[in-house]
Amino acid sequence: MDRIDDWRSNGYMTSTSEIQTAVVIGGTGKTGARVGRGLTAKGVRTRIASRSAGTVFDWNDRVTWGPALSGVDAAYVTYAPDLAVPESSSHIAEFADLALAAGVRRVVLLSGRGEPAAEKAEESLSCSGLEWAVVRASWFAQNFSEGYLREPIRTRHLALPVGDVAEPFIDLDDLSEVAVAALTRADLLGRVFEVTGPRSLSFAEAVAAISLASGRAVTFETIGLEQFSEEMTAGGVPDGMVDLLSYLFSEVLDGRNRFVTGVVEEVLERPARDFAVFAAEAARTGAWS
Ligand SMILES: NC(=O)c1ccc[n+]([C@@H]2O[C@H](COP(=O)([O-])OP(=O)(O)OC[C@H]3O[C@@H](n4cnc5c(N)ncnc54)[C@H](OP(=O)(O)O)[C@@H]3O)[C@@H](O)[C@H]2O)c1
Repeated sequence: MDRIDDWRSNGYMTSTSEIQTAVVIGGTGKTGARVGRGLTAKGVRTRIASRSAGTVFDWNDRVTWGPALSGVDAAYVTYAPDLAVPESSSHIAEFADLALAAGVRRVVLLSGRGEPAAEKAEESLSCSGLEWAVVRASWFAQNFSEGYLREPIRTRHLALPVGDVAEPFIDLDDLSEVAVAALTRADLLGRVFEVTGPRSLSFAEAVAAISLASGRAVTFETIGLEQFSEEMTAGGVPDGMVDLLSYLFSEVLDGRNRFVTGVVEEVLERPARDFAVFAAEAARTGAWS
């Protein structure tokens, strides 16, 4: 039986018993797959859930939520398509209520920096009565190697509606290790972990680092928002996703998130991985071949 440790000053009960079972919502994605592997390596029985996973979970189909949550101690939650969409906070509030009712103890939510809608969703979780933590991330380094920026890097020309704004890109291995720590360590509960890489780079500098690491010259061009939207639409990207990316590039990438935090170092007791190290590893493993 769980041993109740104490009432923390942040107002919810924490338990010293270990997390034995977990579900990863968005478990086939970039962070979800890493968190799933990290939990399994720690001996946590882990269920992978998404629209295409063995455990079917769809944010747009509430019937799928209950079965995904049944019989687990904890959940790592990535929201799709992005917490920036207006319905995210009501979805997270409903999800958290259901999780509590299903006997889930702890939820760790992946969030984004400097996004008002994401902060509302974080609040939905922190008010839920669950043990909680938020991993609030800067832009992912792996957007360049596993996400929507991979193909332009592969074809050696990246054009984005962003100038010389600096961003401390976070390596997803670091982010996921912090998420696994938050899921498995009671001392990390009730906190927002704002994770960043160790230095800020502009997109042009990031592309230069990738060119250097891969030995393939990649050019970077700043384009207007309208041209960006037109090109995305012409390339078959759905309207909703074009709007979302346009919002992220035009409003969130305005320099508000350029500062570096020491959270990775604090939680993992080692430095955060530098973008150049990420780029070398991605090149070595054939991300852009
Ligand atoms: N990219 C960034 O730089 C950045 C920065 C900060 C925060 N974030 C946040 O990161 C989250 C994305 O995490 P990620 O990069 O690890 O994931 P990802 O690689 O984008 O993959 C998306 C995951 O969500 C699942 N999914 C898609 N639509 C779904 C739906 N309707 N219902 C349930 N699952 C669905 C996908 O699997 P199926 O297709 O099988 O459903 C997949 O497992 C977003 O919430 C975003 O706000 C991103």
